[in-house]
Amino acid sequence: MKTVQDYIRTIPDFPHEGIMFRDVTTLFADPRGFRMAIDQMLHPYAGLHIDKVVGLEARGFILGGAIAHQLSKGFVPIRKKGKLPGATIEQDYTLEYGKAVVEIHDDAIQPGETVLIVDDLLATGGTAEAGIKLIERLGGKIISCSFIIDLPDLGGRARLEGMGIDVQALCA
Ligand code: PRP
Ligand code: ADE
Repeated sequence: MKTVQDYIRTIPDFPHEGIMFRDVTTLFADPRGFRMAIDQMLHPYAGLHIDKVVGLEARGFILGGAIAHQLSKGFVPIRKKGKLPGATIEQDYTLEYGKAVVEIHDDAIQPGETVLIVDDLLATGGTAEAGIKLIERLGGKIISCSFIIDLPDLGGRARLEGMGIDVQALCA
């Protein structure tokens, strides 16, 4: 039987030379693969109380939307700067291949709400850390960060766990 990993392809030198880009579009495009990924991502949280699912742009929206639907909970996007129409708070961060700023609507999480953060891939952890900071600034409590892929050599898991955040991933 195929595993989640079997549906993911690696594209060398995208978007820059030296980056081995993990392309999950092939996983998303396969009905068995996509369902398997969502089911496996949900598994660790059975019985836990989650108020909101937060997805990190852009592939975290696809996964987070499906997970929120499955949990019958609301979905909240964290977006690159300049995309959200309402009042926002922002956080800058460094990526494996660049710098960016992300934002969340300032009324998207209520103080005390429990939050699951979802994205496709954990590399340096810069994106997830920026998301964690935004949610914590709004008073949210992070239950866990869930990824399909963890690239442990890039240090993201150690970085997030060092902040006291639970990290789950389906494959490396
Ligand atoms: C990718 C990936 C994560 C992030 C991981 O997104 O989907 O969000 O990088 O890297 P990090 O752990 O080093 O922060 P990307 O920034 O390429 O944005 P996109 O999904 O909008 O293309
Ligand atoms: N984001 C950061 N590093 C990445 C990689 N190697 N593949 C896909 N997305 C990424």
